[in-house]
Amino acid sequence: MAARTDLAEWKALEVHAHDAASAHIRDLVRDEGEERLSWTAASAAGLNLDVSKNRIDKNTLHLLIALAKACDLEGWRDRMVAGDRINTSENRAVSHMALRGGASPHGDEIQQAKAHMLKFVRDIQEGRLTSATGKPFTAVVNIGIGGSDLGPRLAADALRPDWSGGITPHFVANVDAAELARVLEEIDAETTLFIVTSKTFTTQETLRNAQTAREWLTQHLPDGAEIDKQFAAVTSNRSEALLFGVSANSIFDFWDWVGGRYSVWSSVGLALALAIGVENFETFLAGAAEMDQHFLHAPLAENVPVLLALIGVWNRNFLGLQGLAILPYDQSLSLLPSYLQQLDMESNGKQTGRDGARTAWDTGPLVFGAAGTTGQHAFYQWLHQGTDMAASEIILVLNARHEIEAHQDILLAHGIAQGEALAFGRNETATRAELANSGLNPEEITALLPHRTFAGNRPVSTIVMDRLCPRRLGALLAMYEHKVFSQGVIWNINSFDQWGVELGKSLAGHVLDAMNKGGADAGFDPSTRALVKRVVDARGRANR
Ligand code: F6P
Repeated sequence: MAARTDLAEWKALEVHAHDAASAHIRDLVRDEGEERLSWTAASAAGLNLDVSKNRIDKNTLHLLIALAKACDLEGWRDRMVAGDRINTSENRAVSHMALRGGASPHGDEIQQAKAHMLKFVRDIQEGRLTSATGKPFTAVVNIGIGGSDLGPRLAADALRPDWSGGITPHFVANVDAAELARVLEEIDAETTLFIVTSKTFTTQETLRNAQTAREWLTQHLPDGAEIDKQFAAVTSNRSEALLFGVSANSIFDFWDWVGGRYSVWSSVGLALALAIGVENFETFLAGAAEMDQHFLHAPLAENVPVLLALIGVWNRNFLGLQGLAILPYDQSLSLLPSYLQQLDMESNGKQTGRDGARTAWDTGPLVFGAAGTTGQHAFYQWLHQGTDMAASEIILVLNARHEIEAHQDILLAHGIAQGEALAFGRNETATRAELANSGLNPEEITALLPHRTFAGNRPVSTIVMDRLCPRRLGALLAMYEHKVFSQGVIWNINSFDQWGVELGKSLAGHVLDAMNKGGADAGFDPSTRALVKRVVDARGRANR
């Protein structure tokens, strides 16, 4: 297969980028006027995408679509749906779409697992399943990390207005016991269910937290209480869950063809379903399914996830931007940047192509962000005037789900204005006029001018939805999954493995071993040995 950079379509984009180097988004938008909105907007499943504030013209999009076709995006998409083992380095299919209703050879087992999970949710919510002391459950703690945490944690937080059935969700991921300790302070041992969520059931952080939770329950429940009644497990490693002491009926399956960061739709969503109830969980899946249908059938030029992906490729590979800021103007989505860090960076943060060769082109961006407006008072200075440039994705939710009316217009005004400021900036003439209006004298104006001018030309894509509900959230997360997938195809990488996280994990085992032996390990480099020694010495002092 030709290297991406050798494709005629890639070269055409390079030439186009060279020609467009001096273009400013301000001029592109002003010169084209309303007409620009006709080809820079697309919508699906209640989400409206606007890419007009990007450094693109019609030809850019045309060339990007040609590149997507040359990379056989549609073919890879069909192969994913057909259940081909497109995760080649792990020899696995990639079938998370089947979890929300897509056709799949696994249809029966999906339905069985879902029925099992949803019955469990109903039994808990309706008090048929009770705790070791016979009390109804009032809280659930999901113990898991990465894909076994971020999806349900984000969705449960985003859908707080949909909590129903009286079960409060909590999440513990970090092996730092401070997180678990904080949750333990908030819950009642007699009415809390712990779910150990781990696809592999080998993840050290999760197993350590689960063991501590078990010890805590043992201390806080009456002697002889059946602690197993307060544990469930979500895993593809049933035998290890059984060994941990979870009863067979409380083990919920998921499969190797569901990647961890694509798994919130599976039984990994158990804590979420317990919080929001069966109907809302089904609606969440339905929103994602609606986006799936759009992704599978809409023409590329009108395909929301594909458009967003192509704009990302343009910004990354042809404008050379390394960063992507995720800026949700809705506090309910404050965890979205963390969720997307895993979805995007664990999927596409790779330098080895499908063919095993080092890619000669850049791949996934550095993803960061925070809920607006809080981020504005932190890193936006860098976004507007830093020496590097990042693209931004601004998410606007028109209607809040709380009753306090006075804030929403302020919030939305900020979101819209930030897009305007990033893309258009403020040139010297406008800045001079502004400063003159504020009563400064000419010398003061001249001195301040370079500080107060904004170069702009920072690309911004805007996603607008009417409100954040289970359906829209499902659609939003599915949109991002398909965006990441589409970019992975164009970059010719496998978006579904994550070998880059393995080295640190295995070294941690080595370091821990050395600590347990009092720091003795001849194999460490001097720098690492000194750090290990510091820990061992500090522990020694603390133990005295
Ligand atoms: O961070 C690496 C990783 O393997 C993720 O891909 C995964 O989501 C996470 O660890 C948790 O893995 P598990 O569900 O097997 O505990």
